[in-house]
Amino acid sequence: MIGEIDLNKQEALLKLAQEHGSPLLIVDHDQLRKNYRTFKEHLPRVQCYYAVKANSQPEIIETLFKEGASFDVASYNEFMQVYQYVKHFERKEKKHFIWDKIIFSNTIKDRATLEKIKQYKPLVTYDNNAELIKLKRHCDTAGLVLRLKVPDTGSQVEMSSKFGAEPGDAQQLIEQAFDMGLKVEGLSFHVGSQCTNFDNYTAALDIAATIFNTARKKGYPLNLIDIGGGFPVPYDTQTGQFEKLSVILNAELTRLFAEDVEVIAEPGRFMVATAATLVTEIIGKARRDGKVFYHINDGVYHTFSGVVYDHWIPNFHAFKTGESEICAVVGPTCDSFDKISLSVELPWNLDVGDYLYTEDIGAYSTASSTKFNGFDGAKILHVKK
Ligand SMILES: Cc1ncc(COP(=O)(O)O)c(C=O)c1O
Repeated sequence: MIGEIDLNKQEALLKLAQEHGSPLLIVDHDQLRKNYRTFKEHLPRVQCYYAVKANSQPEIIETLFKEGASFDVASYNEFMQVYQYVKHFERKEKKHFIWDKIIFSNTIKDRATLEKIKQYKPLVTYDNNAELIKLKRHCDTAGLVLRLKVPDTGSQVEMSSKFGAEPGDAQQLIEQAFDMGLKVEGLSFHVGSQCTNFDNYTAALDIAATIFNTARKKGYPLNLIDIGGGFPVPYDTQTGQFEKLSVILNAELTRLFAEDVEVIAEPGRFMVATAATLVTEIIGKARRDGKVFYHINDGVYHTFSGVVYDHWIPNFHAFKTGESEICAVVGPTCDSFDKISLSVELPWNLDVGDYLYTEDIGAYSTASSTKFNGFDGAKILHVKK
């Protein structure tokens, strides 16, 4: 495992942790740009809306903005985080950016948020009747995208138990919107996050195409398909998954949707996961029931929050070599729930003051970190900006 490149990387990480302190989350903006470009290269028909929720660090938004990305926001605050980059634009250009490059992907928006975004003529999703009534009353300038419930079997994080209209209700929800004087632009779905079961995408596209084409035949001028997020990251040794998926998606999009249909996507994890590495320090060591417990200075209430909310299984690497055994790695708080993993193969001879590092921790990590127990969480260092 320790090739020359790893050693170079390790040396650089160690140096940064010694210089800046730990826990230290290092965000590599070259990797961010690479992820964005890979996405665009493999899915040329798809407009890429970065899902800000995956990691809303302003520096990340800025880099992707400069790359030309569009944005998927879920709240007024996320909207404003993007808006600040265009607020100085001339009126027409600003209007165009907001309409063309921002989507409110949260199907449920509170009334106050709708009132605030009404002036911007936003593109928003919905999946039920009550939301239509709310939109009509509080934000009738919006363009609408109907989110569908689709299969999310095997995805790391499922979505369909909370979001999406039943496909059988879709025509009625489209018709009702038009009857109310609202305009439905298209359809969206989300196959679940970290989706490695590509049948979810093909099934979702089939469902969406049937509804889309029926609506068009009935005279409803839909023109947009939003294929959501879910694009898989090579967390384990499995690489090339996204590339395989993109071949399937390109073929299915061509087969199912006429050329004039605009296709957009909302990748979150794919953009940021591999762009960050976390360095942590061992602050305590104990043998409990025969197993080595490494207590480190970051945990599930902080940068490892993805273990809880994202069902993520983190990787750990030591900088020192030594005979390894199955160890536990736990967080710094007083809560016994704060166990990051009870089964990590690590050298048993690490000491207090030694460092560990965790790769691919850019998505759903700092985004859901708390200050529980008075711990601040990781310092974030942006490199290669
Ligand atoms: C509506 C919506 N779009 C996009 C995303 C991003 O998904 P992913 O990180 O799997 O690409 C999410 C994630 O929760 C979401 O809820």
